[in-house]
Amino acid sequence: MALCNRENGGMTATTRELADNFDLEKLTPEFYADPYPTYRALREHEPVKRLPNGSYFLTRYDDLVTAYKNTKVFSSDKKKEFAPKYGASPLFEHHTTSLVFNDPPAHTRVRRLIMGALSPRAIAAMEGDLVRLVDRLLDAIETKREFELIGDFAAAIPVEVIGNLLDVPHEEREPLRDWSLAILGALEPVIQPEQFARGNKAIEDFLGYLETLVERRRARPGNPERDVLTRLIQGEDNGEEGGERLSETELLHNCIFLLNAGHETTTNLIGNGLVTLSAYPSEKRRLIENPNTIKTAVEEMLRFESSNQFGNRMTTQRVELGGVMLDSGTSVTLCIGAANRDPSQFNDPEKFDITRTPNRHLAFGTGAHQCAGMALARLEGAIAISRFLARFPAYELKGSPLRGGRARFRGFLSVPCTVG
Ligand code: HEM
Repeated sequence: MALCNRENGGMTATTRELADNFDLEKLTPEFYADPYPTYRALREHEPVKRLPNGSYFLTRYDDLVTAYKNTKVFSSDKKKEFAPKYGASPLFEHHTTSLVFNDPPAHTRVRRLIMGALSPRAIAAMEGDLVRLVDRLLDAIETKREFELIGDFAAAIPVEVIGNLLDVPHEEREPLRDWSLAILGALEPVIQPEQFARGNKAIEDFLGYLETLVERRRARPGNPERDVLTRLIQGEDNGEEGGERLSETELLHNCIFLLNAGHETTTNLIGNGLVTLSAYPSEKRRLIENPNTIKTAVEEMLRFESSNQFGNRMTTQRVELGGVMLDSGTSVTLCIGAANRDPSQFNDPEKFDITRTPNRHLAFGTGAHQCAGMALARLEGAIAISRFLARFPAYELKGSPLRGGRARFRGFLSVPCTVG
């Protein structure tokens, strides 16, 4: 089958060629704009694809689930993989100390502490503040009429929510987004020297800031039921000597991770969701007319344009996956964006359907590392998108949205809009 190139309307690569030529280290502008034809080609022709650097790229739903669920064989520990990429640098120390890039027991200890502060009760208690925040942003947009969907809305929500979660004083939140973008940007498959330098500087500045915040919180602890930082500082009180405690390094880096994990991903859920709705006017109308479908609509936005497109694992032993033998020590990229459009799991997967059920997408991963903040992300997405639509049902994009030029985190840097 030949594919149409959007740029020149001409026939370009066959799906077979797309799959054959795919290299995560040489992504094209067409891929950044629309990776789904490539994902589909890979799923159909080479679902367990060996890349030129010796790593593998997985695109089938079932293969991702196998890798996610089998944590002994598919390790999340990134020390081996990141040593050549980052050397002895702040980025290396940060990423290899974060819970997401560790296996048990380091992973389990930190996860237990974090999950305790993200209980359904704690999240339900955040709803009132969240509604007030979203309404304040919508009031400001109403006055402006022409606005920036990402800067004025999508990105302004998670920074406040995560800031509240760690109780970062409001006036100290401004640098958080740029630090987060710089640190996560350094996780792209290929990074330039300036991205590496920016990532390292962001870690150093972030650590410097957190040290003072932790010092202040030690002096004046918050309520550990709702303040994650106090919870991480105090550790677990299991009634015995030596209950779970984090070292200073673990504490600081996992706070940075938490602040980052909820930022760009949730910004992209809200931004991608509203851009996708404007590209599918009949689904947009359906959602406006049936606001009670917001929950399934958010799930469909998560599936259709997943904010986090890739996960990574390394094999700890020789293993067969999807008919291919992988040696021990092989890096694998789990392509969430491709699995979420796998026809073996989703009926008519290229269709954007706001009432799709069932919808067992992998936008939050699955298994032991499944997103610890997914209930919060869902709440943020539902409140932000439903209140935005209720207020500005006729919103329109003005000009072309600008993509961030990232493959791992899919979203927009800027989306000029009018309230219509
Ligand atoms: C739409 C928004 C979000 C998306 C798409 C998303 C996606 C993900 C994914 C795919 C993972 C699994 C990584 C892996 O297995 O390799 C993950 C892990 C994680 N996420 Fe999220 N996330 C979102 C929002 C949040 C928020 C709001 C928070 C915090 C409040 C958060 C905190 C975490 C944490 C702590 C982990 C690590 C869990 C572990 O390793 O056990 N995320 N997220």
